[in-house]
Amino acid sequence: MTTVTERPSQELTETTDEDLTETTGEDVPETGDLDDLGERAVGYLMGAAVSALVCLGDQLGLYRALLDTGPATSRELAARAGLDERWVREWLHGQAGAGLVRYLGEGRFGLTREQAALLADEDDPAFLAGGFGVLFDLFQGWERLHDSFRTGRGTPYDDLGPEHARDESRFSAPWMRANLVPVILPDLAGVTAKLTAGAKAADVGCGAGRALLEMAAAYPRSEFHGYDSSAEAIRLAERNLSHSGLTNVTFHHAEAASLEPHASFDLVLTWDCLHDMTDPAGAMRAIRGAIDPDGTWLIVDLAGRPTPEENHDHPLAGLLYGFSVLDCLGCGTSVEGGLGLGTLGLSEPVARQMTSEAGFTRFTVHDFDNPLNAFYEVRA
Ligand SMILES: C[S@@+](CC[C@H](N)C(=O)[O-])C[C@H]1O[C@@H](n2cnc3c(N)ncnc32)[C@H](O)[C@@H]1O
Repeated sequence: MTTVTERPSQELTETTDEDLTETTGEDVPETGDLDDLGERAVGYLMGAAVSALVCLGDQLGLYRALLDTGPATSRELAARAGLDERWVREWLHGQAGAGLVRYLGEGRFGLTREQAALLADEDDPAFLAGGFGVLFDLFQGWERLHDSFRTGRGTPYDDLGPEHARDESRFSAPWMRANLVPVILPDLAGVTAKLTAGAKAADVGCGAGRALLEMAAAYPRSEFHGYDSSAEAIRLAERNLSHSGLTNVTFHHAEAASLEPHASFDLVLTWDCLHDMTDPAGAMRAIRGAIDPDGTWLIVDLAGRPTPEENHDHPLAGLLYGFSVLDCLGCGTSVEGGLGLGTLGLSEPVARQMTSEAGFTRFTVHDFDNPLNAFYEVRA
């Protein structure tokens, strides 16, 4: 069996000039569906425009103002948000046309309960506005992508700016907060009993530390350590920690590979970060050394299908490959020789193989009804 340490692209068969002439031009089947394809393309174009207005509404506090003080005219909403009425009116009509704000007649606009959950209420598990913020952060410094396509080398996480770490956390935290402690941890064998009694847990690639803070608040007898290679993420995590008042949490600005091999952690979490790492195999070996022989490692990562070709039918393929090219592939190739798994690259077969190569023997798949992520309980 080959090990998963080479770039995935190198696993593909080499393409020769002869192959290219055989697979271009006349061999591509005609479908005669220009209208359907055009409709699809226009849908993407409209999605991009609507997404930009969602991002503005989130950043400028327009959804929040509609939620906090109820239906409003453009004049009232502009006054509440401290903005210009003409611009707010144009935004409101665009949002009503996109179905994201409800027009109530006589110049008044409001949010339905569902619109508020998705766009205004950051505490709702369905809150999605953070995802739009992540996307628009990635449109900054566009030239970096031209460079990456030419050189193969991606952009380090911190070069994407402090907003990136904040918005990624706003994207992942709402669902995580509603599910990690009440639903996910109780489903892992023996974990909540250990945490209740007093255990040691780590979140590797912790970002802004939301998962760790949720667990630390729920299990005050346990100690929690967050590790992240991003200075911006750890700065944010420290700020979140100081607002929480918790005393059982320590954040470390450190690479996963620097975990000490003391076999001391009863629980390790890696949430949506292994596929971003330049050396996920090294991180997995470090986790193997750091975890107690009876400990549990929970991997949460994007639910890619076993092969890229199977991902073509993934209902969110366009979105997830978009994030990959704009973000994750760049993080994973930001050093010479970085593996670059890409957003969907840690599929179940890859995760099974890599964890086994790192010395883990047990691998259990859980389903927590999440449209994006897969959940693997891994043990030594
Ligand atoms: C997509 S973010 C997820 C953050 C957090 N787990 C969450 O769900 O909000 C990926 C994180 O992995 C971190 N990361 C990437 N490579 C790392 C490494 N080798 N060691 C530690 N952290 C790493 C990044 O800095 C980033 O904070």
